[in-house]
Amino acid sequence: MDSIWTMTADIPKREALKEDMTVDVAVIGGGIAGLLIAFYLKNKGVQSVVLEAARIGSGQTKNTTAKITLQHGLVYHRLIEEIGEENAKLYAQANRQAIAEYRSLVEENRIECEFRECQSYLYSLEDTDLLQKEEEAAKRLGICAELTTKAELPFEVIKALKFYDQAVFHPLLFLGRIAEDLTIYEDTKVLTVEKEEEENRIITNKGIIRAKKVVFASHYPFINVPGYYFLRMHQERSYVVVLKNTKQMDHIYYGIDKEGLSFRKSGDYLLLGGGGHRTGENTGGGSYQKLSLAAEKWFPESREVTRFSAQDCMPIDGIPYIGQFASTAENWFVATGFQKWGMTSAMVSAMMISDLIVKGQSPYEEVFGPQRFRLQASAVNLAEEGIQSAKGLSKGIFSTTPKCTHMGCALEWNPDEMSWDCPCHGSRFAFDGKIIDNPAQEDLKNE
Ligand code: FES
Repeated sequence: MDSIWTMTADIPKREALKEDMTVDVAVIGGGIAGLLIAFYLKNKGVQSVVLEAARIGSGQTKNTTAKITLQHGLVYHRLIEEIGEENAKLYAQANRQAIAEYRSLVEENRIECEFRECQSYLYSLEDTDLLQKEEEAAKRLGICAELTTKAELPFEVIKALKFYDQAVFHPLLFLGRIAEDLTIYEDTKVLTVEKEEEENRIITNKGIIRAKKVVFASHYPFINVPGYYFLRMHQERSYVVVLKNTKQMDHIYYGIDKEGLSFRKSGDYLLLGGGGHRTGENTGGGSYQKLSLAAEKWFPESREVTRFSAQDCMPIDGIPYIGQFASTAENWFVATGFQKWGMTSAMVSAMMISDLIVKGQSPYEEVFGPQRFRLQASAVNLAEEGIQSAKGLSKGIFSTTPKCTHMGCALEWNPDEMSWDCPCHGSRFAFDGKIIDNPAQEDLKNE
């Protein structure tokens, strides 16, 4: 089904690549991360081209709930423990700067994209000390936070943690405006990238581009080696139903309990989210049904307008990978692993990658740079990724269900979305075998 954003915005179509060309920078992926990176490069005097396999904004950007926030779940207490207070401060600072960048971009360019300042809340219906710990951690890092029992939700909360000065917007209205002066080729699918002595050859289905530098902003990097991102991330799905006729709600809410729901109002519509699971671990469906039941219970007057789902890359240490793609690929850059916080992470990517390309450094490299390896934060999850891949691969060898075209894992049927989903690294295919989500690059084969 259409997301609420595609129903309410129309971005003009761009042409496909028509001939081979040579450029300074090629950005692969025309979602919000790719376009913001190209936009920031342009503002810093560097020309780039954006290569998009389908339409700009037609991947994960159209399926976001579009919260511009540095409240990334229960993150700060964990970050202080795992990467230290100074690095946790840098993480918060990068995201705070990202919010400020959105605010000034919208104001300076008069972008009509329903940008609205608000507060962001984590809430719980259980008697937990997690929110208190998070408040203490946030305050240590200079974040304006406050514990409360008051919320606009249709039920009582035991505790909620409020962050001030966050925002929401319409992602496709914003995307359409920043795309206006960029060079973008749609329907141009990158098949592979070859490193040569001085430059890179980007082979697409429409022609070849030579570029000094390449940015991979295609959600999940589709090149396995170097980088090995398939060992460092898995993907998760989450679901949204969009309701009309609900009460007014000025702020955004994210439940931290196991079956917690998220709430975010956009004009007359309420986006009610939840039901997340690892991609490929389908428990017989019912995610949308659970949301519909919650809607009936809490908003009996409401009417469902549409429903959609998101796919998120989850890095093993819970921090996005933004920066140099691999130590052996000096002129390749990557922006991935945004978890459920794609809007702020996309802006952090634009700030960082444009700085890395123009100045050769970024103040946030220590935290987000993909070459980091932090044992405490990564070891358990790395082992878990290995087990999941091994399980998927062995099923792929012995089962008769379709096999993923990425690395051959057995696919699982997702009844909620009528798709074949891969439990190893999260590729997805439509019921007829057409690829929906990478890292796989090819449709299913009819064997
Ligand atoms: Fe890697 Fe399927 S996504 S094997």
